[in-house]
Amino acid sequence: MRKLTLGLAAAITIAFAGGVQAQTYPTRPVTMIVPFAAGGPTDIIARIVADHMSKTLGQQVVIENVAGAGGTTGITRAVTAVPDGYTIAMGHLGTFSAAPATYPGLKYDPINGMQAIGLAGGTPILIVARKNFEPKDLKAFVTYVKANSEKVNEAHAGLGSVSWTTCTLLKAQLGVPKINAVAYRGTGPALNDLVSGQIDFMCDQIVSVAEQVKAGNIKAYAIASKQRSPALPDVPTTAEAGLPEYQIEAWNGIAGPKGLPKDVVDRLVAALDKALNDEGTKKRLLELGTVLPTAEERTPAGFAALIKRDADKLSPALSAAPK
Ligand code: MLT
Repeated sequence: MRKLTLGLAAAITIAFAGGVQAQTYPTRPVTMIVPFAAGGPTDIIARIVADHMSKTLGQQVVIENVAGAGGTTGITRAVTAVPDGYTIAMGHLGTFSAAPATYPGLKYDPINGMQAIGLAGGTPILIVARKNFEPKDLKAFVTYVKANSEKVNEAHAGLGSVSWTTCTLLKAQLGVPKINAVAYRGTGPALNDLVSGQIDFMCDQIVSVAEQVKAGNIKAYAIASKQRSPALPDVPTTAEAGLPEYQIEAWNGIAGPKGLPKDVVDRLVAALDKALNDEGTKKRLLELGTVLPTAEERTPAGFAALIKRDADKLSPALSAAPK
């Protein structure tokens, strides 16, 4: 009986301690690393989501841009940090699913060596070009790049980034894998050069390009999704525009180091979910063309499954791609 009482007391103490920790985290600002320059899709989504998460967590979620090596520099920093919940990252299809096949010496393992927290949003891919680029539509674009592969240039955010990954798949399909590609520290700065006409085309997530397309500063040939986006209803799908085999969905999501305490993960998951359910946050994300995650994708297990599914899918093509 006495043994039972002591056991019960210990269990209550442990449960209480866990509860206290859950209630006290975070006691100071949380750093969310964005592994690209400001102004790109990862940065835009991170700032919108972090803004609302800060309210729920009662502490500022501070964005730190740590760009380089297609986003892998910033993600390495985040997932090798002390697992206390004060350093997390907003990554994406590139850093979590494409990077392992792109960088043989990658210093993190997105499948077994980090803690997935949740998906922040799906981000359809668009093929976009400077506004005075000669081809008028996607079919003309395909003909043009095949005929002029020596002189056209493309921008991306570094090996393994989403822009690099998605244009690498496009170029492989078109049979022009070696088109001249210019690497930037994020598609924010790349987009500036597309708008000013120094770059011919790029493949990028809708979030950063939608406003520029609407303003007529660049043109969009197609969206590589099954359906058109409500954010850009006049842009045809690749199937409608004559390239049905080119379809790919990108996304952005949050992860942290492996070994994060469960109650910390739970608080972050709940804060992300609350942000995505908030009307104002939803409106901002939807206006940019983001696809809101399902309930399953907002969970660590659902997000981890998505990362693995896309890594398995991309791996063969990316391992063989010219780097
Ligand atoms: C990418 O191409 O990986 C992203 O667009 C980079 C970014 O978010 O700036």
